[in-house]
Amino acid sequence: MATEQLTVEQAGRVFADAGAYTDERRFHDACRLLRRKAPISLVEAEGFPPFYALTRHADVMEVERNPEVFRNLPQPVLMETERERIVRQAGDLATLVHMDDPDHRRYRGLTADWFQPSSLARLEARLAELARRAVDRMAALGGECDFAVDIATPMPLEVIMSILGLPEADYPKMLQLTRELFQGDDPEFARGTTFEEFMTVMYDFFQYFGALVDERRARPTDDLASVIANAVLDGEPIWPFQQISYYVIIATAGHDTTSFSMTGGLQALIENPDQLDRLRKDPGLIPTAADEMIRWVSPVRHFLRNAVAPAEISGQRFDVGDRLLLSYWSANRDEDVFDDPFRFDVGRKPNRHLAFGFGAHYCLGAVLAKMEIRALFAELIPRLRSIEPAGPPALSRSIFVGGHKHLPIRYELG
Ligand code: HEM
Repeated sequence: MATEQLTVEQAGRVFADAGAYTDERRFHDACRLLRRKAPISLVEAEGFPPFYALTRHADVMEVERNPEVFRNLPQPVLMETERERIVRQAGDLATLVHMDDPDHRRYRGLTADWFQPSSLARLEARLAELARRAVDRMAALGGECDFAVDIATPMPLEVIMSILGLPEADYPKMLQLTRELFQGDDPEFARGTTFEEFMTVMYDFFQYFGALVDERRARPTDDLASVIANAVLDGEPIWPFQQISYYVIIATAGHDTTSFSMTGGLQALIENPDQLDRLRKDPGLIPTAADEMIRWVSPVRHFLRNAVAPAEISGQRFDVGDRLLLSYWSANRDEDVFDDPFRFDVGRKPNRHLAFGFGAHYCLGAVLAKMEIRALFAELIPRLRSIEPAGPPALSRSIFVGGHKHLPIRYELG
């Protein structure tokens, strides 16, 4: 449907429509209309609880600046009413995104140092090695591959598994479990949608990570899993449920997001050969290119906040219990903040994108994610002689974390 014919009500419903996220043009047309005509709009979509969609950069930031009023609990992510009921019945996780202060600050503090640039610097050589392995794998595939499946999925998974100190033999299991949890709307990845099916995914996670806690308590190493397994708050060890939730958020938040940024970033380079050329000629642009890829893809499509006191943003009043959907993808195309937002610009600076969120919950893994993306492209770009599509790309059906799940390419590597 052409943008002009689209009503504000129809446009708002894209946020609850997993199919809309598979069609970038349709999604962005709707967001463009909303930013112009109804930047904060009440959405009533069948099967979902009502929510306000926030599409402008300034409004998203304003909400994130006020975590006392706009809280993550009780519902940090938009779900169908029925799924929300199932998750509540099962007992939701207790990850950082399921916490507000004071708990959030205390639990985040347990690993915050580990994710500081100074601690992550020691991973630099390992990331370069994994990037080299990834591009060698691409070369071994003989000039054609599905970049999403063959390259961009394994590399961030290898990073997460190695920082958690997990064995290579478990990679496929972890990939399957994290996809089942995060990509549950996409039939290619979902185990199912019933209460029982959801519970079996959770059960598998708890069994796997429960064994990891026991192991790292008995024999601590210097990995992140040991930090979490041996964490102490107020003189007491943290509960197994909180520990396992911690592993789950790191395992899930840590790889699909980065994989999608890599694949969407490469797709943008293929579609904008002038930008690929720029990057070839000036590899010093890799850091700004990585940031631009993350803005472009915005793989975390949204988070929700819940109003716990009456409040007002840009003239819109909110009552206790209102839900606010922060559309990072829309905020990252806001014409008021980005010069020519639909231009993919590997040298974009400044790049005030909100793909990692903002404020108290700002992505814990942001530095790591950027290091990974830089490492891959620093290895790939100088070796890439030519590249073109080898079939249609496909985006995942997901209203929460999404991006390209397939990107068939043909290429020559040096
Ligand atoms: C390009 C890749 C990534 C993107 C776009 C991304 C995006 C986000 C966003 C939007 C949030 C919520 C921020 C908010 O509510 O304001 C978040 C939180 C989080 N991310 Fe990431 N992320 C990425 C990679 C990673 C990686 C590699 C890790 C870990 C290894 C990670 C771990 C986390 C954790 C633990 C949180 C929860 C933080 C909190 O609630 O305090 N993320 N991420």
